[in-house]
Amino acid sequence: MTRKVLFVCLGNICRSPTAEAIFRHHVQTAKLEHQFTIDSAGTGAWHVDDPPDARMTQAARKKGYRLSGKARQVKLQDFFHYDHIFGMDRSNLESLHELKPADSLAKLHLFRYFDPLGKGLDTPDPYYGGPDGFDEVVEIIARTTAEILEHLRS
Ligand code: 4NP
Repeated sequence: MTRKVLFVCLGNICRSPTAEAIFRHHVQTAKLEHQFTIDSAGTGAWHVDDPPDARMTQAARKKGYRLSGKARQVKLQDFFHYDHIFGMDRSNLESLHELKPADSLAKLHLFRYFDPLGKGLDTPDPYYGGPDGFDEVVEIIARTTAEILEHLRS
């Protein structure tokens, strides 16, 4: 059975493309690519068609992860196509709950509910901060996506 997983932040240029790339990395390392469909999106439309943020791309590359794709906004079909949709922070999750059609079976989650070192926290938005913020986000996302994979494969 294919599991379809979508990561959602505000702009789809920092946090959610990083979650998409690192989760995909974990899935490939576990040789489970055939079992997963993975994507990311933003609740906002400001950065539609932009590539991932260059600072985020650099922070991820230092750890061996390659960001790709271009930003898109969440659409209604996502709530029918994806089984699991992860909001990177509470605000993203609230937006998802507002958008979710009543007959959608998608499960919505707070991303860091699965963080073993910060269960239930928001994934900080690094966009307006310094370079350390991007490195921290990569660390948070690497360990949390590993837990999410354990959760979804079991
Ligand atoms: P993201 O970060 O939601 O992690 O992609 C942001 C990117 C852009 C903006 C806000 C957050 N912005 O306001 O343009």
